[in-house]
Amino acid sequence: MAKEGYLNLLPAQHKKSKEPGDSRAMMRARRNFLEAGFYQEMAKAITAMIDHHRTTDAMMHILDMGCGEGYYSRQIELHSKDSVHLDLHGIDIAKNAILAAAKKQARARFIVASNKRMPYADHYFDLLLRVYAPSNDAEVQRLLKPGGLLLIVTPGPRHLWQLREFIYKDVKAHHTDIALPKHFSQIDSQQITYKIQPDPDQRMALLQMTPFAWRANQEILAQIKQADNLEIEVDFLLTLSKNS
Ligand SMILES: C[S@@+](CC[C@H](N)C(=O)[O-])C[C@H]1O[C@@H](n2cnc3c(N)ncnc32)[C@H](O)[C@@H]1O
Repeated sequence: MAKEGYLNLLPAQHKKSKEPGDSRAMMRARRNFLEAGFYQEMAKAITAMIDHHRTTDAMMHILDMGCGEGYYSRQIELHSKDSVHLDLHGIDIAKNAILAAAKKQARARFIVASNKRMPYADHYFDLLLRVYAPSNDAEVQRLLKPGGLLLIVTPGPRHLWQLREFIYKDVKAHHTDIALPKHFSQIDSQQITYKIQPDPDQRMALLQMTPFAWRANQEILAQIKQADNLEIEVDFLLTLSKNS
């Protein structure tokens, strides 16, 4: 147990690189961008969906898989109607992200580990959350209680359209098919779209969070930075499924 209160359960022999997962720079960029509140509406929608589908007043055990620096876990604690009965956990392969998460939320428990081998007992969780992160179906099935819920957040068709216009000649809408693990069926979904107006530095941070950042050369970066009053559409899909 580190002094900041997190556990590091990623043994050196399971690391494929010295700094697995997102780098410190990526984590910082994401934290600054998220803390500015640009994705808060989505975080509130996650919380509302969790509250709406609660079936018991008993403690609800929730795990954020690939939690990064724990933004969603903090938002859930902040906005839930019954946060006292939430037992919040987060796991990520990036140690610096988990360290930042643990420092900011004493009530939640964070572990450095891979989603491929999650260090929790079978059928412990009521809900697993996956926001823009990889996961492993067999582990999802093992960790969830029977009847447990899986909440996945993915980009909707027009997510970051205006940012992608700087990079691609012909921007294509994202596919929205979501592959659910075996024996899971969808019980709820929600699309959230709105526009954001990040300043030039925040645009750079947002770009860092995307899988297409590497395609932007210096010229494109300058165009994105210098654009006047750039409005960017965000488009999120929340898909809630149940383990039958
Ligand atoms: C795009 S980020 C999303 C982070 C956070 N959910 C968010 O939306 O702000 C993906 C995260 O997954 C983590 N990650 C990548 N591979 C992983 C693995 N095998 N196990 C656990 N986490 C992993 C990365 O370190 C990173 O924090």
